[in-house]
Parts: sequence; C-alpha cells; structure tokens
Amino acid sequence: MSEPVPNYTDYLKLGELLKLQGGLEDDEAVLIPDELLFIVVHQALELWFKIVNRELRLARDHLAAPRVPEETVPHVVHHLRRVNRVLELAVEHFKVMETLTPQDFLGFREKITPASGFQSSQMREMEILLGIKSSQRVRYGKVDPIEHLEKLSKDSTAGEEAWAKVQSVQAEQTFQEALRTWLYRTPIHGSMPGDEEDDAAVQRFIDQYLVQFDTFMDRQFEQLESSMPESGDNSKRFEQSKKAAKDFLLALDADEDLRPRMRRIRAGLLFIESYRQLPLLAWPRLLIDSVVELEQLTLIWRNRHARMVERMIGRRVGTGGSSGVDYLDKTGKVRIFTDLWAVRTVMMPKDCLPPLGNPDFYGFAT
Ligand code: HEM
Repeated sequence: MSEPVPNYTDYLKLGELLKLQGGLEDDEAVLIPDELLFIVVHQALELWFKIVNRELRLARDHLAAPRVPEETVPHVVHHLRRVNRVLELAVEHFKVMETLTPQDFLGFREKITPASGFQSSQMREMEILLGIKSSQRVRYGKVDPIEHLEKLSKDSTAGEEAWAKVQSVQAEQTFQEALRTWLYRTPIHGSMPGDEEDDAAVQRFIDQYLVQFDTFMDRQFEQLESSMPESGDNSKRFEQSKKAAKDFLLALDADEDLRPRMRRIRAGLLFIESYRQLPLLAWPRLLIDSVVELEQLTLIWRNRHARMVERMIGRRVGTGGSSGVDYLDKTGKVRIFTDLWAVRTVMMPKDCLPPLGNPDFYGFAT
C-alpha cells in the first residue's frame, strides 16, 4: 500500500478541533451563537498562550546557558518578538468579544458559574515562567490564585492535570532569573565577573556615573528654574531623583547578601542602555527592549481585558467569585521586570556619559 498523502484536514486534526466547541452540553447545536463566539475566543486565546509559553521557554533556555555566545542573543530577541506579536494580537480578540452585548452574555453567564479565566493554568504558567513572585499575587478573596488551582484539582481530571503542570512550572528557572544571570555577566569597561579587579571596575563605573548624573540633574534643574520659576518645589524633586539614582545603582533596596550581585546586574543593564551604539551591545539592548515591550503588552492585555469586562458586566462579582473589575485592575499593577523600567529614570544623554574604557573590547572606538 502506498504511503498516505498528507492533507490539510488530517494534518491540522480539524475533525477533532472543530468538535470541541460544544460547551457544557457537548452539543454545539443547542448553543446560542453568542456562546459559540465566547467559547471560540477563549479557545483561540488559550492556543496563543500555548505559543507564548513555548517561546518564553526557548528564550529562557538560551539565556540560562552558562555562556551565552554573542550570536545567540538575536535568537532570544527572535523568540521574544514572536511573543510580543502574539500578545498584541491577543489584545485584539477583545474587540470580537465586545460584539457580545451585556444582556446576551447574561443569557448564559449563570450556566457557566463558577468557571472563569481565573482558572487558566496557561496564564498562571506564563506568569510563573516570567518570574512573578507568590508574594506579588493579588489574592482572590483570601485565596491565592495558585491555591485555588490546587483546590480545583480535587474536582476534575482536567483540574488535576492543570495543577500538575503549574507545580512543575514552579520548579523551573524563571525567565527573570535567567535574564539576571546573563546581565550579571555584562562586561563593564571591558571588565568581567571573576576578573581580579572587577568589583573595583564596577564600583568605579557607578561612582563616575553618579557624579555625571548629579551634574546632569543640576543642569536640568537650573534650566527649569530659569524658564519656569513658578513651577513649584522642584529643588526637592531633583534632590530626590539624585538620591533615588544612587539607591538604585547601589542596590540599597536589596538584602545585604544579594546587594553586590544586584549592583552588578543593574550596572550591566545601565551600561548596555548607555553605550548601546557599540556593536557588542546593540543586540543586548534590543533584548532588554523586547522584555520591556513584553511586560508593557501584558499590562495592556490586562487593562484591555478589564475594560472589556467592565463594559460587559459592570462592577459585579466575577463568575470565579473575585471582586471582578476591581480584582482585575489590581492585577494590572503587578510588575516583574522593575529594574528594566527603573533604569530609564537614571539614563543620560550620550554627551554626559563617563568616557568608555576599553573601547576595542566592544567592537569599535566611539
Ligand atoms: C464576556 C467576556 C469576559 C468576561 C465578562 C470576563 C470576566 C472575567 C472576570 C470577572 C475575571 C476575574 C475572575 C473572576 O472572578 O471570574 C476574569 C479573569 C480572567 N479572564 Fe476573563 N472575562 C471574559 C473574557 C475572557 C477571555 C476571552 C479571556 C481569554 C482567555 C479571559 C481570560 C481571563 C483570565 C486569564 C483571567 C485571570 C486573570 C488573573 O487572575 O490575572 N477572559 N475574567
């Protein structure tokens, strides 16, 4: 017998796929068209979450290697860019969802209670993979969303599988950890961790940077004062900015034992962002920017979902039993990559930067 010829329907398992929209009744024929739409939009988004989690793992695995060769960095950017395009597309799905009217949704909402996107294990997987800490999680009533999944696991096989998956993700290295390990190794004026004088080289970079930053802030203050003397107590604000920059770069917010590591990570981050025109740093900067974009898009997704929910159900309690929109708005404030955002506050124009040491190391002299 000859080999079967591949065909579109078999390859994509469309027979099985298109039978999966029957809802609780397992019969699409009895669903109203609005409910079919509701199911399809959720399923489409879950498929996209699957891609996001896969690409995140690929990006993480590259960065987690003991040595990340220069030519690997574009691959990491490639995976992150794909995640970002998917997240952008995910946001657009809510426009389709909004063709459902609040009243039509109420027509089948009771039936699905207490099912909720809150139980999406792939969403939790994404959060955990990225590096959200359990202390950062917005509680669901008194319950932690992860504990909630554990509770669900006792009621169904699907819940059991979802819980097993979430548990195994918790044992994995997070993208945030892998990123920090990679940033830690950033050459600073050509100095690498493990080099004899590395601690001194890092400290010198931070000290020189802070001197320049103070001068830059003073200049900005004088400029503002001379053009807008009535604009309020800016002297205090500029002094606070100088202190905040120092605290940030010296990592005074970190536990004492972790401080040297955090200091080097932040110095590395600032170095990449400041001297980004150097060939060796161009891709690392794009990588950092892709992570910032990723977090920006997850926040946009959360906010867009919350506004769609408010438009649909107002301020009532969610089917999952949370406070609804209030809960969702709180989740929209949680940040993971805080350093990547914070470094923007301490950046300076190129002409204010301390002179680059060891330019040959980075590809060319400025
Ligand atoms: C009519 C449409 C929708 C409404 C009214 C709605 C409502 C809600 C509400 C109220 C919550 C808070 C938890 C709760 O108490 O239930 C929630 C959470 C969630 N929803 Fe939706 N949702 C809708 C569509 C979607 C869609 C299309 C997705 C895509 C997968 C989705 C994904 C999620 C996720 C992942 C959460 C958990 C958020 C978190 O805990 O951080 N929702 N939804």
